[in-house]
Amino acid sequence: MCKRIELDVTRMFEDAVGEGFGINPDDISKHWPKVEAALQGLESRRKAGELPFYNLPVERENVKRIQEYAEKAKKKFKNVVILGIGGSALGPIALRDAIKPLHWNARKDENRDAPRLFVPDNPDPEYLGAVMDVCDPSETLYNVVTKSGSTAETIAAFGAILGPLKDAVGDKYGDHLVFTTDPAKGALRQIAREEGIATFSIPAGVGGRFSVLTPVGLLPAALVGIDIAKLLDGAEEQQEKVFNKDFEKNPSAAFALLQYLAHTEHGQHIHVMMPYSNALYRTADWFRQLWAESLGKRQNLKGEIVQVGPTPIAALGTTDQHSQVQLFVEGPSDKTFTLILPKKYRRKIKVGKHYPQIETMDYLSGEDIGDLLSAEGEATQRALTAAHRPNMAFILDEIAEETVGGLMYILEAATLVAGALYGVNPLDQPGVEAGKIATYALMGRTGYEDVRADIERDRERPAKKIS
Ligand code: PA5
Repeated sequence: MCKRIELDVTRMFEDAVGEGFGINPDDISKHWPKVEAALQGLESRRKAGELPFYNLPVERENVKRIQEYAEKAKKKFKNVVILGIGGSALGPIALRDAIKPLHWNARKDENRDAPRLFVPDNPDPEYLGAVMDVCDPSETLYNVVTKSGSTAETIAAFGAILGPLKDAVGDKYGDHLVFTTDPAKGALRQIAREEGIATFSIPAGVGGRFSVLTPVGLLPAALVGIDIAKLLDGAEEQQEKVFNKDFEKNPSAAFALLQYLAHTEHGQHIHVMMPYSNALYRTADWFRQLWAESLGKRQNLKGEIVQVGPTPIAALGTTDQHSQVQLFVEGPSDKTFTLILPKKYRRKIKVGKHYPQIETMDYLSGEDIGDLLSAEGEATQRALTAAHRPNMAFILDEIAEETVGGLMYILEAATLVAGALYGVNPLDQPGVEAGKIATYALMGRTGYEDVRADIERDRERPAKKIS
């Protein structure tokens, strides 16, 4: 039976949240032709081979090789460590948390059917060191993931684990490495060629934050026993809808237009994604990068300085009901909310009947914890709506490979539509590149001497420090 994803947009409109706060349905009719034009343009570019991400759910030539590789590796290794950052790390983290039981790595070996998965996606020596402390290199597979093959954080982490790995396994170290990188270019590709390291390619034209359904996400997922064919099935089901010209049949375009209108017509430029599920929290985190890095741009497609972009925020239900929700309900009316509400949870845990005489405890006795979480999701929808805060919800039949693959695909496709509406290129990231270049300069990479000289001049500016 197919597992469904619905986008409930009822509470984005002014009849639910009030005039001036919610979207006027006439605005949908007025702006939908822009979405149709965007879809037409995107579809033509897809057909011309310019947007290969759209075809990832159906072009599955890599899948069998990934599955075969993973089957062997699962038997051989106790740990998989992903060395990557940004789009090369957030997808694997999101998939692990969504599909595997939470705290997967803390389970005893006999309670796991696949290796532990660590993703130290920051060159923080305390973080990387902590992972190194618990992963014996002789039992570990290191998946080094970098599209460009040159990101300093990833190259440094690779360089850091290589010594201990060589010390532990000698000249067999290559068997403990697998690279995911550009099909032709970059340092990893060169090393792989010279040393015969197993390698998977990120298709040309698929950028980091759109790569979760390439070997970037699929290999780590398969290594921990996630059914990657089902992930792709879920995305494929959505692929049929993302070019639909009917607002009510295209969740990704509807999501993009509603967010865009909320921002441009009502100043709601902060887009909160709030799953009622710990398993999906890192999916919201993955979305944060997708939305921010794709849409936050200085220049539009005409080269004009526009400095646009919504600000995505990740929140967690119910945890954030006791934290950010105070701001969300009573603070400035500058936000939209996208809740993710699973219809059911994969575990049932009952509250025991212990103190029938105490009313504050007794009303919860016999209830399922998941029902409490669902009730709180609905309660937040009501609270936001009553406070004139536009909110929508992705409703998932359940949290499973199909719905997670489908949801990620919907959000990726929405990002391209939103890019067209904002008039920016959602596929580049010049702001990220600027940081990468400054890092190369600071760390003494050849070819970046001019940038280094600039930084030195900057350092001469008298500092203002307060202590
Ligand atoms: O989405 C993006 O393009 C970025 O976040 C990259 O994924 C990130 O900068 C890492 O780049 P790379 O995979 O080249 O190491």
